[in-house]
Amino acid sequence: MELLEIMRNRRSVRTYTGEPVPEDKLLKILKAGLLSASGRAVRPWEFLVVQKKETLRKMADSRAAGAKMLMDADCAVVVLGDEEKTDVWTEDCSIAMANMHLMADSLGVGSCWIQGRLREASDGRSTEAYLRELLGYPEHLKLEAVLSLGMPKDHPRPYDLEELPMEKVHRELF
Ligand SMILES: Cc1cc2nc3c(=O)[nH]c(=O)nc-3n(C[C@H](O)[C@H](O)[C@H](O)COP(=O)(O)O)c2cc1C
Repeated sequence: MELLEIMRNRRSVRTYTGEPVPEDKLLKILKAGLLSASGRAVRPWEFLVVQKKETLRKMADSRAAGAKMLMDADCAVVVLGDEEKTDVWTEDCSIAMANMHLMADSLGVGSCWIQGRLREASDGRSTEAYLRELLGYPEHLKLEAVLSLGMPKDHPRPYDLEELPMEKVHRELF
């Protein structure tokens, strides 16, 4: 399929059937993240894959709202960035997130970006502190976001190229 067509189909999927995400698809998703562009090729990311249901359910409380789909997800990829390696770790980790999200959709796997950085857990701690205690990542690794993954129950309708707001594109002068 042409890349634009894959992008048109990509949507945030927050409901899952409960079927497992096949391991070969999960590996492709992770490889898409590892292939991401990165400032000065530093690649400051670490990906933490969580598949234990009990842990996923606890992770659903890592946000007051916005992470509840983890209750039914098959797995999650926690994207962490090493702030000691580069000052553009948020950009680098965002690209990795976007590539994994797009790859997942292209493989028929539902996924959703769950914001971690600058967000709070239901118990009032930062999402980063909440997940650090649960998952044990070291202090120099900062939380960017979590990608929930599961076989889609409902996939929102693909976008229509004719409806894109082309007025947001400016040429030569604003
Ligand atoms: C930076 C960023 C943060 C997001 N945070 C969340 C989130 O915490 N929870 C959630 O359910 N969706 C989150 N989303 C998904 C957006 O809500 C979603 O991309 C948007 O509504 C557009 O829908 P679409 O992805 O289907 O095109 C996030 C997306 C991005 C790019």
